[in-house]
Amino acid sequence: MNRSLHLFAGIIGSFALSCYALVLLPQQQLGGLQPQIAEDEGKIVDIYPVKNVSHEEGRAIYQSEGCFYCHSQQVRDEQNGTDLARGWGVRRTVARDYIFEKTPVLGSMRIGPDLANVGSPKWRNENEGEYATYKPKKRDASWHLLHLYAPRTVIKSSNMPPYRYLFETKKISGQRSVDALDLTGLDAPEPGYEVVPKPEATKLVAYLLSLDKSHPLKEVKGSAPEVAAK
Ligand code: HEC
Repeated sequence: MNRSLHLFAGIIGSFALSCYALVLLPQQQLGGLQPQIAEDEGKIVDIYPVKNVSHEEGRAIYQSEGCFYCHSQQVRDEQNGTDLARGWGVRRTVARDYIFEKTPVLGSMRIGPDLANVGSPKWRNENEGEYATYKPKKRDASWHLLHLYAPRTVIKSSNMPPYRYLFETKKISGQRSVDALDLTGLDAPEPGYEVVPKPEATKLVAYLLSLDKSHPLKEVKGSAPEVAAK
């Protein structure tokens, strides 16, 4: 009898301990994370991150198309990888970066580059160093649309799948559409036709261009903000 009581207490204890260590403790440490607010003489001068509802639809398309099967959105620090050397970000990403993302699309595979900062103005456009060939360059909306429709028109050796069903081929009536893709060679549509993005492609690209986790955070060494932050 006494022994089964010990066994029972042991089982309950180990469940309680793992519940504390795996659920309650992380919740206590990270659950209440708020945006970083910087004040200057009592006035709020900077808030990061900010809630970005206008790109939720684009984010949903990113998720439903499964982009996260090949792309991560998390930058590791120098000790744990070469992400910074590859130019995938100017600092590592931390929990606070994701507080407004309901399901952060962190991803676990990197068939393609990390996209955490793909829309950042700090995206480097250099092409040098050991990882130069992996280093994504600053791209604008028309580049991204071309890349989605036919990746090899912009990256010769790309093995990213094309997402042609996010576009439609239309007969040109009157003038060419402003958002028609500039396609050449085998990818070009028949004369008199044009390839234009469907709203899904436009929203997806707007979402990609909104991705920017380069803002300095006080918990990331070497990226401390200039004004006092709390
Ligand atoms: C089967 C794997 C795979 C899937 C799925 C995938 N990609 Fe890629 N992606 C790649 C590879 C590989 C590259 C690198 C070659 C290149 O740039 O085309 C890449 C490159 C990119 C780049 C270029 C970054 C830069 O600036 O150089 C962007 C943007 C991108 N992918 C977005 C997407 C989006 C959006 C989706 C979902 C609609 C997606 N990818 C789905 C494999 C994938």
